[in-house]
Amino acid sequence: MNVVVRPAEASSVESGNQPGYMTGFGNGFESEALPGALPVGRNSPQRCAYGLYAEQLSGAPFTAPRARNERSWLYRIRPTVAHWGRFSRAAQGLWRTAPCAETELPPAPMRWDPVGFPESPTSFIEAMHTITTAGDAAAMAGIAVHVYAATRSMQDEYFYNADGELLIVPQDGGLRLCTEFGVIEALPGEIAVIPRGVKFRAELPDGRARGYVCENYGGAFTLPERGPIGANCLANPRDFLTPVAAYEDREGPARLFVKWGGTLWQADLAQSPLDVVAWHGNYAPYKYDLRRFSPVGPLLFDHADPSIFTVLTSPSETPGTANVDFVCFPDRWMVSENTFRPPWYHMNIMSEFMGLIYGQYDAKPRGFVPGGFSLHNTMLPHGPDVDAFEAASQADLAPHKLAGSMAFMFETRFPQRVTSHAAELPELQPDYGDYGHRLVKKFNPAQA
Ligand SMILES: [Fe+2]
Repeated sequence: MNVVVRPAEASSVESGNQPGYMTGFGNGFESEALPGALPVGRNSPQRCAYGLYAEQLSGAPFTAPRARNERSWLYRIRPTVAHWGRFSRAAQGLWRTAPCAETELPPAPMRWDPVGFPESPTSFIEAMHTITTAGDAAAMAGIAVHVYAATRSMQDEYFYNADGELLIVPQDGGLRLCTEFGVIEALPGEIAVIPRGVKFRAELPDGRARGYVCENYGGAFTLPERGPIGANCLANPRDFLTPVAAYEDREGPARLFVKWGGTLWQADLAQSPLDVVAWHGNYAPYKYDLRRFSPVGPLLFDHADPSIFTVLTSPSETPGTANVDFVCFPDRWMVSENTFRPPWYHMNIMSEFMGLIYGQYDAKPRGFVPGGFSLHNTMLPHGPDVDAFEAASQADLAPHKLAGSMAFMFETRFPQRVTSHAAELPELQPDYGDYGHRLVKKFNPAQA
């Protein structure tokens, strides 16, 4: 008999018209789906209420500094050791893990059209197609970037990733992420983050779903410092939503997939592992609506560095040198006087993977379409194409609103290696790297 228990009425919190979530970033949250399931004033009582087991999930070393220390206590029907079995290798599909040197491509900017949906039923996990890898997962440094195009919900299938956390960027179709901590519904324009080690399954409310994933092997995503900006703007903590507790008390055949050490493993279970009745702590999945981002930018002249649009950052041991930054480009006003307003031409020690959720990106009026993606790797030149350059050089510089577009970037300190799958995709635009050739010489030493 299948029994799915919804969150208790008392633990539902209204947050921006979204019931079932708690607000804040990295708070010491607590939530219970049954009254009294959470121990009061202690973590590990001799006997937990309702016959639950207590289990700690540590996302940071025990001794990490307080500001970086992440853990949660889960009160569950069975501990995770009971949701276990003899693991065998699962079909790996096209999921790759760094280091992965499948190809040796000449250095060039790269861009792809959106990938299509498969004709055969494909789950969120099966759909994970790695485009780039960077760093080394075993060293807990670097990232992988994946795209997914899924066509079936995960039923009685569960997954957790030991190699990194997953930052999911839906682009076409929403996701309903049933996690140990509760349910997250993420639509295009929103992002969801599943921390390392958190079990979940993905349902597709729209029947299919496409998007991007940053698998972060490094330090957990956190909010960037604001410096002189002060206490407000950019991504505000209150706009991050963490689900209230919801559990499945379901006996019956199930399968758990685990990605560990770059390999996808599977084991058969006799019940759902999403059996956490109550939890508390600061290590939990969350979602965020990118349209809540409050941009800050140049008010008089010049074009600021894109770091002003950083939503989340995974810091490294080197100050100011992110393992990966997640950056969005939301609606905003362009007001700078006597300024070339699009992004300038540049070369960067950081490598940049870009995607477009909807709309049109200002530096690339053509060829970069929603669902597509581009890679501007370490120290490779890039900038506006000829259309964008000519238009911006001649534009009337009245205040102008860029609206109806949402691009994003995964920017990492590591060079990104393209997988052989990505290199052979028919969606790879063969002539993209030539766009610079169309920028003609304008130099005239006789005219300043
Ligand atoms: Fe760039």
